[in-house]
Amino acid sequence: MLAISLDGRLAPASGGAAQLGGPGDRRVLEEALAWADGCLIGANTLRLHGSTCLIHAQDLLAGRQAQGRSPQPLAIAVSRSGDLPIDLPFFSQPLERWLLHAALEPQARQQDPVAGFARCLPLTSWPVALEALAEAGLQRLVVLGGAQLAGALLQADCIDALQLTVCPVLLGGPYSWLAAAAVLPDGLTGWRYEQHQLLGGDELVLRYVRDRAA
Ligand SMILES: NC(=O)c1ccc[n+]([C@@H]2O[C@H](COP(=O)([O-])OP(=O)(O)OC[C@H]3O[C@@H](n4cnc5c(N)ncnc54)[C@H](OP(=O)(O)O)[C@@H]3O)[C@@H](O)[C@H]2O)c1
Repeated sequence: MLAISLDGRLAPASGGAAQLGGPGDRRVLEEALAWADGCLIGANTLRLHGSTCLIHAQDLLAGRQAQGRSPQPLAIAVSRSGDLPIDLPFFSQPLERWLLHAALEPQARQQDPVAGFARCLPLTSWPVALEALAEAGLQRLVVLGGAQLAGALLQADCIDALQLTVCPVLLGGPYSWLAAAAVLPDGLTGWRYEQHQLLGGDELVLRYVRDRAA
């Protein structure tokens, strides 16, 4: 799920940490976090923002507690470099952190070679990594961006639903929500409209689900 501009950007032309969505988008984001077992976050987003989104809404926290779940979904950082400085506020946030690390050997699974992470899993291929997460109990995953991570998952056809909050602003510049380097198989057609919702502040949530049979 991403907040995007009318011209499909997820960050201003100058780059840096983007804050596009308003209060309505924040609620939708927290609802998705409340549904999720875990959230995937690109390392660049973590380096730029310093931290990840938390559920603050009391009703959503109470709902998770009633279901016997942790207050926050698990945060899964995705990185090749492993360059996630331990002094990032992310490492002090009240949640469990795992790392999907493209450079780790498969046998490194279950070990803890990177400071700040409770668990590190190798990222050899997306289907294998997502299966390993599912086996570990993380079946409901939300992708929090950014564009490189979204592009990698779409390139592997591993996204089941796209939820975009369209914000009433034009940004221009190079930062499309789908990284320009992403090469999609056959243009990745086959998305079925599921729902839309008008939020305050003239923001519009669009939700499309992947229909692989189409
Ligand atoms: N509007 C929104 O909803 C929203 C949401 C999130 C982010 N953003 C914005 O998006 C921008 C950041 O996005 P971005 O595209 O530059 O970066 P990103 O996707 O957040 O992170 C890219 C990094 O993630 C790791 N990575 C991504 N795909 C990987 C793969 N397949 N295998 C291994 N590692 C992988 C790599 O980390 P290493 O470099 O460590 O190897 C890569 O450099 C910021 O401007 C941020 O504010 C906006």
